[in-house]
Amino acid sequence: MKKSLNREGGVLVTFEGIDGSGKSTQIRLLTEWLRDRKIPFHLFREPGGTELSEQIRELLLHSSGPMDPVTELLLFSAARSQLVAERLIPLLKRGDLIILDRFFDSTIAYQGYGRESASPDEIHRLNHLVSHRLRPDLTIYLRISPALARSRRAEEADDRMEREEDSFFERVALGFERLAEQSDRIVSLNGERPVEEIHRDVVRLMRSLTD
Ligand code: ADP
Ligand code: TYD
Repeated sequence: MKKSLNREGGVLVTFEGIDGSGKSTQIRLLTEWLRDRKIPFHLFREPGGTELSEQIRELLLHSSGPMDPVTELLLFSAARSQLVAERLIPLLKRGDLIILDRFFDSTIAYQGYGRESASPDEIHRLNHLVSHRLRPDLTIYLRISPALARSRRAEEADDRMEREEDSFFERVALGFERLAEQSDRIVSLNGERPVEEIHRDVVRLMRSLTD
């Protein structure tokens, strides 16, 4: 693994996309690929990854009472701050590779564009604070239409976010598109193709980091 890509020393790769875009599937294939090659890595998901962040995840995804949009924004942010400080920064300082299922781009897309809890600029500033200035070396965004993503999720029980209507996910997808246009760090892959084809692109991107 190429060293010192990140300011902290290690390598941070994040996956983004709307619910049902195929992130879990691609992360599973990537981690199998890394294991086969005996490349060590750590895998985390957001919200989650520490005891406190997992407790916050429960509140965010499975609480049934009302949740004010700003409260939601701050809870996602609190879970992230804890994960970054407790796990990500210490591991990156050791030079390790981290694969992360969602990071601060999700907050721009879901809370900024989807929920419209605050302006994208306000959320960018909050993200800066909450990520302790950590930035991914590579972000793989799986692009898919909300209708196809919903049909793929049809078998699964929806959590609090997934119960949102199609127009919410249209706005979230637009948010991800805007982010991808604005940042070289984000690589947008067509997520509507067969699993193996997408996996080949993911591997190509990983190789560009590691070779
Ligand atoms: P996410 O983690 O982004 O919510 P998943 O990886 O769980 O998405 O995929 C949602 C559903 O779609 C799963 O049933 C999965 O098997 C299926 N799926 C994932 N990727 C593809 C693909 N490229 N083509 C068809 N079905 C897919
Ligand atoms: P999860 O079950 O991890 O969904 P997925 O497998 O699709 O990633 O649930 C995370 C949910 O939280 C998902 O609907 C996206 C949402 N989310 C936000 O709204 N804001 C955020 O900052 C993050 C990290 C996630």
